[in-house]
Amino acid sequence: MTRQGQADARYHRAKREGFAARSVYKLEEMDRRYQLLKPGQKVLDLGAHPGSWLQYACQRVGPTGLVVGVDIQEAGVELPAWARYVQADLLTLLPEDLRAFAPAYDLVLSDVAPRTTGVMHADMAASYELTAKALDLAMALLKPGGSLVAKVYFGPQVEELIKRVKAAFSLGKAHKPEASRAASKEIYLLGRGLKKAG
Ligand SMILES: C[S@@+](CC[C@H](N)C(=O)[O-])C[C@H]1O[C@@H](n2cnc3c(N)ncnc32)[C@H](O)[C@@H]1O
Repeated sequence: MTRQGQADARYHRAKREGFAARSVYKLEEMDRRYQLLKPGQKVLDLGAHPGSWLQYACQRVGPTGLVVGVDIQEAGVELPAWARYVQADLLTLLPEDLRAFAPAYDLVLSDVAPRTTGVMHADMAASYELTAKALDLAMALLKPGGSLVAKVYFGPQVEELIKRVKAAFSLGKAHKPEASRAASKEIYLLGRGLKKAG
């Protein structure tokens, strides 16, 4: 099947399975490979709209867990009782705003992405700013031993983010999920086992 065919198949599969977006299969793949999500965990999902990662995380942590979604846009899906949703600009959020829901989190997910302009260096700079902020929040809010998944558009400053993740976690690396289009500039920073609290 061509890459476009695979993307279309994932789109239809997401519809069939009731997920808000096909990007759910990127998280599913990383979860399978790195065992990120477990029942009872507290999860923070930054850049959560329309909500497929939120839906998936809610299923995986179950009613003994908690999933907090943040996005500048309102939620696009109905969420179970163990989810919270904050409509806010990530760039203005403080760790205290998110400690209102849980004192610390097991996993921080960030699929946040700027509205692209087509001007590559501007899009990369905007993505870097958002992901650097997601990392700051993760370092402040993760429990020791916690994990991180954060999208960023590949660009000159990405090496700096990869270095930060490698230094802070027992396992730190950049990962390109199969479900991510080859033409897409996105990669995911992956951290497992935060060495110490932020
Ligand atoms: C690729 S989408 C996330 C998809 C989501 N993971 C899912 O599976 O449904 C990226 C999101 O980042 C959000 N975003 C962009 N800039 C933001 C900001 N400054 N603060 C909060 N959210 C932002 C966008 O509104 C958009 O919903």
